[in-house]
Amino acid sequence: MSGSRPPAPRGAEVSAAAPSGHSGTTATIAIYSVKGGVGKTTIAANLAWCSAELSGRSTLLWDLDAAGGSGFLYGLEPHRSRAAGEVFAREGHAEKLIRRTAFDGLDVLPADESIRTLDATLSALGKRKRLAKLAETLGQRYERIVLDCPPVMNELSAQVVRAADLIIVPLPPSPLSARALELVVREVADHAKRHPPILPVLSMLDMRRTLHKAAREENPAWPVIPYASAVEQCAVQQRPVGAIAPQSPSAQRFIGLWRAIERKLAER
Ligand SMILES: Nc1ncnc2c1ncn2[C@@H]1O[C@H](COP(=O)(O)OP(=O)(O)OP(=O)(O)O)[C@@H](O)[C@H]1O
Ligand SMILES: [Mg+2]
Repeated sequence: MSGSRPPAPRGAEVSAAAPSGHSGTTATIAIYSVKGGVGKTTIAANLAWCSAELSGRSTLLWDLDAAGGSGFLYGLEPHRSRAAGEVFAREGHAEKLIRRTAFDGLDVLPADESIRTLDATLSALGKRKRLAKLAETLGQRYERIVLDCPPVMNELSAQVVRAADLIIVPLPPSPLSARALELVVREVADHAKRHPPILPVLSMLDMRRTLHKAAREENPAWPVIPYASAVEQCAVQQRPVGAIAPQSPSAQRFIGLWRAIERKLAER
């Protein structure tokens, strides 16, 4: 851990003590696919760590999936209040729910069961850019907002597309993944006037498998996250791979991906 923020207990709420601003440009990075179980949450949690620890950026990991995986990967229990969905309905509510992690500069806006009805809440609100506006407000406090998205194609994902400056699409090598990428590309074209760039990432890559090797050869420019026990350990130890095994090839891959993201953002 590094930086100068005062220590706080892991999982403590931060509304009073959080940094009140920053001088850089804010970016919202969505980790999204229509396909489930492709590594979205794992990548979101690890990239958020890279942002805070390597780039020293104030970072918010925003969990938009009722399963609550991002909070879990940082050892945070879901809120008993089931209030995560209300962030969208009430001004200023997000600040009350944001929790600090064990890592300096890295906070989490966790999900809970109430997120299950978020799609209906957003449709009823009728504000097509509600998520984008909330991200803009949170951007006064955080330089990087990482959205861990559920595998859906609905009003919530449409709002994600409108809010994002960059969309990372994890693709385990399979024909179904290629289809998932096509769907994301189409969704971005349908829902955002200014299309955010899409960065496909070969996730859970296992070079011992023929299909995986072929996928790598077909897409040599795409960043890679290998299939590795060090990555699997994130869910066991509830810490990012950079903290568990900083010298591992997996940790290096996440760093490489994060640098590629920062380069893409700098092109804006
Ligand atoms: N690179 C990897 N190597 C090994 N295991 C991985 C890797 N990435 C993810 N996993 C494991 O695969 C499972 C699914 O990963 P994850 O939850 O990140 O996917 P997801 O796309 O967020 O799923 P969902 O759509 O259900 O939200 C988890 O058990 C995770 O620990
Ligand atoms: Mg997930």
